[in-house]
Amino acid sequence: MTRKHEPQTLTSAQFPRVRMRRLRRTPALRRMVRETTLAPDDFIYPLFVTHGRGVKREIPSMPGQYQWSLDMLAAEIEEVAALGIPAVILFGIPASKDPIGTENFAPDGIVQQAIRLIKDVAPELVVVTDVCMCEYTDHGHCGIVHQHGDTFEIANDETLNILQRVVVSHAEAGADIVAPSGMMDGMVGAIREALDSHGFHNVAVLSYAVKYASAFYGPFRDAAESPPQFGDRKTHQMDPANVREALREAALDVAEGADMLMVKPALPYLDVIRAVREAFDLPLAAYNVSGEYSMVKAAAANGWIDERSVVLELLTGIKRAGADLILTYFAKDAARWLQEA
Ligand code: PBG
Repeated sequence: MTRKHEPQTLTSAQFPRVRMRRLRRTPALRRMVRETTLAPDDFIYPLFVTHGRGVKREIPSMPGQYQWSLDMLAAEIEEVAALGIPAVILFGIPASKDPIGTENFAPDGIVQQAIRLIKDVAPELVVVTDVCMCEYTDHGHCGIVHQHGDTFEIANDETLNILQRVVVSHAEAGADIVAPSGMMDGMVGAIREALDSHGFHNVAVLSYAVKYASAFYGPFRDAAESPPQFGDRKTHQMDPANVREALREAALDVAEGADMLMVKPALPYLDVIRAVREAFDLPLAAYNVSGEYSMVKAAAANGWIDERSVVLELLTGIKRAGADLILTYFAKDAARWLQEA
């Protein structure tokens, strides 16, 4: 078998007969041969919701991103919907934290209230909820913690029970998609079972199937006030060095009933996005995470890069790698820039 690009297949058709620049000559020609396009439909916009009134608090390490109180959220939601962005993903900052994160599954928790409000303001907007414990627990871990002297363990199976309560409360409030992000084993199956047994057959699961233990989440942990108070997340999040393991994670989540998969972060893991894309037919999302956002913001603020060009290039790169959807803090800006283009 000869490969398409083997030199001998090109010998009769070389320069000067072949000139790659012919199809790059004008903007219209370039549009015609463009292989990857971006549209607002590709984006999911992350929002941080908090208690109080009149709060629109900028996150210091994420310029242009805010914590919103519910009375301030409606206008933001209308803006997102008007830009043609189909979905938001919600992160909650609870009023108080405890070892099991009680507000996470409270019927009047901050996320549950936000879901209801969004469904009131923009019923057609898809509401995705992040499902994890770290924002809600006083220790900042993604599960139930057992202390053993100097060491501790995140108790996988006990955590699943909590996650089941969380997704049912999100579904009761009107969530369209739940997105478990805690990398507990069996989380997708447990969540699917809880949703189905409560009559929520139509609530979809977007699994953070392939989530790495990444330093790029730093600014998010400021935004969501969720850093671990001790230890790290390496016993459940993946080692950045691994890709075969990513395919096993994804395969398990598919078997457990995930409707969509996610790879997170995006930019240092484009090869992983490609590998998951090639191995599975489910819709694939990639999370362009907080650190990836803040790096661009910092460089742009210094005048070192052109923000608009850089953002559109990197989002295109994530799509070209194989993502169908991108969770990105740039969603609103990118949607605007695409409208102008
Ligand atoms: C967990 C969660 C995290 C992010 C999304 N969901 C943080 C973590 O795992 O520590 C990170 C998102 C980002 O960095 O933009 N609830």
